[in-house]
Amino acid sequence: MDNDFLPLMGTYYIEFYVGNAKQAAHYYKTAFGFQSIAYAGPETGVRDKASYVVRQNKLTFVLTTPLHRDHPISEHIAKHGDGVKVLALKVNDATSAWKETTKRGGQSYMEPTILDDEHGEIVMSGIHTYGDTVLLFIERKDYNGAFMPGYAKWETNYNPTETGLQYVDHCVGNVGWNQMERWVKFYEEVLGFKNILSFDDEDISTEYSALMSKVMSNGNGFVKFPINEPAEGKKKSQVEEYLDFYNGEGVQHVALATNNIIETVTDLSNRGVEFLKVPGSYYDTVLDRVGQIDEHLEPLKELGILIDRDNEGYLLQIFTKPVEDRPTLFFEIIQRKGAQSFGKGNFKALFEAIEREQANRGNL
Ligand code: FE2
Repeated sequence: MDNDFLPLMGTYYIEFYVGNAKQAAHYYKTAFGFQSIAYAGPETGVRDKASYVVRQNKLTFVLTTPLHRDHPISEHIAKHGDGVKVLALKVNDATSAWKETTKRGGQSYMEPTILDDEHGEIVMSGIHTYGDTVLLFIERKDYNGAFMPGYAKWETNYNPTETGLQYVDHCVGNVGWNQMERWVKFYEEVLGFKNILSFDDEDISTEYSALMSKVMSNGNGFVKFPINEPAEGKKKSQVEEYLDFYNGEGVQHVALATNNIIETVTDLSNRGVEFLKVPGSYYDTVLDRVGQIDEHLEPLKELGILIDRDNEGYLLQIFTKPVEDRPTLFFEIIQRKGAQSFGKGNFKALFEAIEREQANRGNL
């Protein structure tokens, strides 16, 4: 990008506020194959909350829970249920990131702050984005502790194997009615992102419901934030259902990349992760649409993995059901074989599958 005032090196971690971090961490280890990395809580001198850090390749999740009723995180959970609070991005200069973004209208969440302990130093700053979600800028110079200052190494005898998940491919936000343009502008003006793809309600509608989506990307493409807004349909859009249950805007799904989606999804399914299923008839015609692919169709069909193609190649993708009882946050598992797009050819089949789930919940 000609004018990259905010160079980003990718996603450093995602922090979830949850009702029970100890059990959530166990779930991400057991079901998704994350490894125990670090812990912060009363035993490490943090009096008001507990955080568990788990990692798999370049994916780092932090699960945080408050220890007291009057804690701000308690309010967050009462309002939203479990969900994503923080998208933490790697930068070389967290002070500059904060100055450049707040100067352009970003609302400060945290002024540049130095965190240090005997293992070194980290500089952290942040701004607000949609809903109660925040973007943190993390500058990690030569810090060599377990995770960050305040955290101790988490040693445990329970270390389930990994499932081949590699890194955050993209992270999608749901915003309210007529809020799309506001947030596209925010990512353009405050963060210097570009709108690389747009889908309107013509692209993303079924007989019953619709949504609009725009993909925002930073200059080097390491950070992609698609934004969804509900659109008018005969029945309730999945984005509207999310907004109702999350009580506002927030992260809808995080896409996790794998190098072998058949192995990864087989493993995840065996560990109890639940996926959305499209009808078997999807596979009768899919190859007419996407052409030749390297994989055998049979395992893809068995697992319910979707296929799409663009000018640059193809991609394989599948979506989990929500990972909480509220129909809010879910995950996408994606393997890119050249394609840089987001599976537009699958939208209809996928959204019909989501609508069947909405109908089962009585929310369509
Ligand atoms: Fe996605």
